[in-house]
Amino acid sequence: MKTAITELFGIQHPIIQGGMHYVGFAELAAAVSNAGGLGIITGLTQRTPELLAKEIARCRDMTDKPFGVNLTFLPTFSAPPYPEYIAAIREGGVKAVETAGRSPEQYMPALKAAGIKVIHKCTSVRHSLKAEKIGCDAVSVDGFECGGHPGEDDIPNMILLPRAADELKIPFVASGGMADARSLVAALSMGASGMNMGTRFVATKEAPVHDNVKQAIVKASELDTVLVMRALRNTERVLKNKGVAQLVEIERSKGASLKIEDIHDQVAGVYAKVMVDGDMDAGAWSCGMVVGLIDDIPTVKELIDRIMREAETIIRQRLTGFLDGEVETEKARAVA
Ligand SMILES: Cc1cc2nc3c(=O)[nH]c(=O)nc-3n(C[C@H](O)[C@H](O)[C@H](O)COP(=O)(O)O)c2cc1C
Repeated sequence: MKTAITELFGIQHPIIQGGMHYVGFAELAAAVSNAGGLGIITGLTQRTPELLAKEIARCRDMTDKPFGVNLTFLPTFSAPPYPEYIAAIREGGVKAVETAGRSPEQYMPALKAAGIKVIHKCTSVRHSLKAEKIGCDAVSVDGFECGGHPGEDDIPNMILLPRAADELKIPFVASGGMADARSLVAALSMGASGMNMGTRFVATKEAPVHDNVKQAIVKASELDTVLVMRALRNTERVLKNKGVAQLVEIERSKGASLKIEDIHDQVAGVYAKVMVDGDMDAGAWSCGMVVGLIDDIPTVKELIDRIMREAETIIRQRLTGFLDGEVETEKARAVA
């Protein structure tokens, strides 16, 4: 399948693996790129630019296909040295960067001078238009369903994607709630040129995280995520667990006076406990409503091949069948 996104990034399939803290290591990024998608290393999971340079080199040893690096600009307890991270990306010969959080405007000249394609993750049409204006090559339009930070507008992808299609000139991928061939075909039909997946890729064989995390994703339903940190205007969708229940209770008692220090124990240092130690009650870690659609742990290649194969079936058989006047059977509806 060829779309504006496959052509922009030089990849076979229009599927991107979003940056994920403590998940987006070289193993996962290389597996996604080897399977024909765009794998992404999470820049800030590497504590220093030197460590990121090593991770990029490790990924290059595992794949000769294009891969990218995620740079997240979120409120953290201390600001990372972004120019040095960008230097590591440039010197590592990486040609795709996924930015997220705040606008990447101040770093665009450095990224563009290095010939890097920038895809900015946005949760609104106005931010997408700003990304287009400052020279981003593409946008990842992240709906309210998404794992991680959905912003504060709460617009789901059924509305956000066609709105983005109406306004944007640059290509975009659908992000948030994407899991399978049905997601991909729906995204394409709403004007996207591909899809970005986060949570789905955590439950794959190659994701270098504790098995408890993968099992928790398989077990969870679409009712098992909750929004936290709304009062801080830093809303995050996370999987419910004991630590998150404490967090929600603290939020309830503090109301609008909540400060980040009040929930320090439930948010700081949690990723290492969850992803490395498999402590599933440690606190807040990003997870999308799409957990309700995930019930297996395939290899990345099995997942991507299945998505592309079933997408073709949906387009060529189910959708074309409607035009040809075929009456659909229950089996055809369940194809994906
Ligand atoms: C465990 C996890 C960690 C994430 N960490 C980051 C991150 O560090 N930076 C970022 O830009 N997005 C992060 N995300 C968001 C993903 O890149 C992606 O946008 C999101 O997961 C899409 O929604 P989905 O989970 O419904 O597929 C994370 C998501 C998950 C599930």
